[in-house]
Amino acid sequence: MGRSLLTFAFMVVVTAVEISRADRVNKSASGGLLWSAANGDGHLVRNAETDESLDDHDELDGGFPSLDGMLQWAIGHSDPAKLELKAHDVQQLSTDELQKRQMEIKELVEKLEMPSDAKLMRIAIDDLSNSSLSMEDHRGALEELLVLVEAIDNANDLHKIGGLSLVVGELSNSDPGIRKTSAWIVGKASQNNPVVQKQVLDLGALPKLMMMVKSSFIEEAIKALYAVSAIIRNNPYGLKLFYSGGGALMIQGILSNTTADVRLHRRSVSLVADLAEYQLEYSSKPELPFFSNCALVRPVIDLTILDDLDLLEKVLLAVKNLLMLKSTEHLVVDGFCGLNGALERMRQQLQQLILEENHREYAIDVEGLCKEVNLIYLQKLNKVSQVPT
Ligand SMILES: *[C@@H]1O[C@H](CO)[C@@H](O)[C@H](O)[C@H]1NC(C)=O
Ligand SMILES: *[C@@H]1O[C@H](CO)[C@@H](O)[C@H](O)[C@H]1NC(C)=O
Ligand SMILES: *[C@@H]1O[C@H](CO)[C@@H](O)[C@H](O)[C@H]1NC(C)=O
Repeated sequence: MGRSLLTFAFMVVVTAVEISRADRVNKSASGGLLWSAANGDGHLVRNAETDESLDDHDELDGGFPSLDGMLQWAIGHSDPAKLELKAHDVQQLSTDELQKRQMEIKELVEKLEMPSDAKLMRIAIDDLSNSSLSMEDHRGALEELLVLVEAIDNANDLHKIGGLSLVVGELSNSDPGIRKTSAWIVGKASQNNPVVQKQVLDLGALPKLMMMVKSSFIEEAIKALYAVSAIIRNNPYGLKLFYSGGGALMIQGILSNTTADVRLHRRSVSLVADLAEYQLEYSSKPELPFFSNCALVRPVIDLTILDDLDLLEKVLLAVKNLLMLKSTEHLVVDGFCGLNGALERMRQQLQQLILEENHREYAIDVEGLCKEVNLIYLQKLNKVSQVPT
């Protein structure tokens, strides 16, 4: 079974850097992966909640690109004092001893026949397509794929060996947890990868994922929105399908829903920033009416009333891009859909946060961004006021 193989490989690496078991459990709880050994048989368990709440960057969520990545993770999560001691020990070794040590490790690894990523992917895909296996096994296979597709080579191979169609098929599974993980895999594999983006679009996954964004199971909605963003990012074909499939309304719906989860708000605002940036970079294209009215801009700005520094930063980045679009110039004279007042409110909010010890640095950064946005706004205002009428 794939799971045990992967766990095994992980265990070898972890043991190789000699981090204590207790340490592993404690540290990994904050790293997105938990080492659970309830039944005496280790499993890699993903903790979606810590992943999201950590920094909301899915590209950094859990998952090891490769064994090398596992090793680095293990080193990063081991006791620095102990490692230093080890490094010191190693420095003390003579060349002969060092070579001997390396040979021993090499032999050990060879004896264990560490499976390749390709082999692990194949096993996971076989498990996923084997209908006589339990839902738990399918879940486990998806968890493995999630780890594996982090490496770009694996993401590129996924479709070739039939994995992508299977995962896209799982987006329609009756189990919300399976749908969530499948969306996460699709998003992770498509991230900055035009080849996989195209494959996913050709498999017709975008409309499905856009539906899933409306799920009442919030984790599913979040991962679906993450996948949608990853698939259409800088992808003209994907963007076309997104807009024609009601993407603009979808975003506006989330932004103006004050009771929506803050993670959905953050992600939607980042998506708006991305979409506007794409417009800026390819300014030869006619700008979309989507950007040029307060129906989009106002709900973005209104989110600043929520007391969330991360969201505040994302809103400012989005507004900065929106302000620079040609098509939004006509909004400037009227205060850019409430930006003027919001900037003043943000300034006060940030002044308050700067006084608080625990996020002073961050608040100072965001205040700098706030000033920058204000400057761009004033320049635009100046520019439009000078246009002879
Ligand atoms: C890990 O956590 C347990 C319980 O929370 C604690 O007893 C133990 O000392 C911790 N170990 C380390 C290395 O921090
Ligand atoms: C499906 O899983 C069962 C149970 O592990 C196994 O016996 C069978 O060989 C598998 N089928 C395929 C096609 O791999
Ligand atoms: C707003 O978000 C809440 C919480 O996710 C959800 O239950 C509700 O259906 C949403 N309202 C609309 C109009 O989408």
